[in-house]
Amino acid sequence: MSDTPADLLPAPRRLTRDGAGSYVLDSGTGLTAGEGTESTARWLRATLGQVTGLALPPVDDGSAIRLRLDPSLPAEEYRLTATATGVDIVGGAPAGVFWGAQTLRQLLGPDAFRRAPLAAGRPWSVPHVTVEDGPRFGWRGAMLDVARHFMPKDGVLRFIDLLAAHKLNVFHFHLSDDQGWRVEIQRYPKLTADASWRPRTKRGHRASDLWDDTPHGGFYTQDDIREIVAYADARHIAVVPEIDLPGHSQAAIHAYPELGNADVVDTAALPVWDTWGVNPNILAPTDATLRFYEGVFEELLGLFPSTFIHVGGDECPKDQWRQSPTAQARIQELGLKDEDELQSWFIRHFDTWLSERGRRLIGWDEILEGGLAPGAAVSSWRGYQGGITAARAGHDVVMCPEQQVYLDHRQAPGEDEPVPIGFVRTLEDVYRFEPVPPQLSADEARHVLGTQANLWTEVMENQRRVDYQAFPRLSAFCEVAWSELPAPAERDYAAFEARMAAHYRRLDALGVDYRPPGGPLPWQRRPALLGRPIEGAPPNK
Ligand code: ACM
Repeated sequence: MSDTPADLLPAPRRLTRDGAGSYVLDSGTGLTAGEGTESTARWLRATLGQVTGLALPPVDDGSAIRLRLDPSLPAEEYRLTATATGVDIVGGAPAGVFWGAQTLRQLLGPDAFRRAPLAAGRPWSVPHVTVEDGPRFGWRGAMLDVARHFMPKDGVLRFIDLLAAHKLNVFHFHLSDDQGWRVEIQRYPKLTADASWRPRTKRGHRASDLWDDTPHGGFYTQDDIREIVAYADARHIAVVPEIDLPGHSQAAIHAYPELGNADVVDTAALPVWDTWGVNPNILAPTDATLRFYEGVFEELLGLFPSTFIHVGGDECPKDQWRQSPTAQARIQELGLKDEDELQSWFIRHFDTWLSERGRRLIGWDEILEGGLAPGAAVSSWRGYQGGITAARAGHDVVMCPEQQVYLDHRQAPGEDEPVPIGFVRTLEDVYRFEPVPPQLSADEARHVLGTQANLWTEVMENQRRVDYQAFPRLSAFCEVAWSELPAPAERDYAAFEARMAAHYRRLDALGVDYRPPGGPLPWQRRPALLGRPIEGAPPNK
């Protein structure tokens, strides 16, 4: 049986039930693709074909799923109409048609999310409805940190499928950090040969004294990246790569010690980091370091067509620059006031470098310190303030405040929650998150490109743990990013929860290890050994 149409998630702008009838898919159902909609037709044929066993041939004998563009609609908007003769999906651009196809899958019921039929010959039907829909924000993102714990390519592709099922359209791919480098750079082979593995890993919170002595690591080849980008592109998801600099760079310094402040510390002795927190070993502000990272970005630009390239910029302690004669000489030579301005100089260099190549720099909100680079956009993570300041200065912003949408944070109080990190952020908290703060005028608010949920993986050592932290909260987040919701206090959380009942069945069919509404399952609970220290501990960053 299909769900009632009102169970769609994210909630569409408008849904009308057109009588009590349903369109039944059978061997006579075709699938036709107007110009520009071919990739969605391929996706539908593969996705629905595997579970229904129907061939969905490219013909329309009066019973078909018909895809086409309607340029009078905004790009990501779509209209879906199910009648006795089939299902019409029209979109302003190919992306709109794809989001309409995602809605069609939901209208077919939760079993449509399986990969093979449970029983041969069961009927598949779509209630007669009209859905008119489109997103609130153009940037509906999720970040996955594959540096702290590597996610094999298969898991990344699956994660992208989960984003698509939630109508999210930006995958922020955190590819480097102190604990590992994850992307092949052909001119610097040691980044993957030496910096993609660490010998051991801190278990749990950084204050724990437990270690996992299994070496951990992995990386994506350039062909893997091409495949991931193409896979995301077919799902209308932009992949925004992040190479974090000048902090969060110890893995790169391990491979190439000359990148670090060798006049202050013995950079040749630095391992790929095996614990968590803010790391003092940052890049040296030298011409050689700039040239090295230009080389990295040159290869990345060939792999990632995304307009935005993320350069990190967060959590960069300046102690080494204060002590380093080389860094101090650079400050003098450039006539800078202090080390914050030196970081700003570093980021500005890549802002100019990326702009000259037709791309745009985005960085965490610390890039505001010491002066924001002219073309830079800001990921506002330490709260709203960075985003407010940047928007008021005319810069674009992605709102991702850690207090609201860091999904590594615990989902409930109590001893059973497995992640000893930070504040409690429940499903309801995420549902009531508002990306545009009231301090911004309408003009300033136009600089809020959208919003993003972030998944840092210090304590998410595998796909199941990522599932647990991401879901169901990412399902609430997608509605915040897509739907026109009322002000936070007026949002109908009970109605959302009721729709989640249907959505949990979709997640079950997809095999997602979400946190059940009643609390974690036995395997999801925190192991007793990791049961301290928890309450009152600082965030694990
Ligand atoms: C961050 O959470 N350090 C961006």
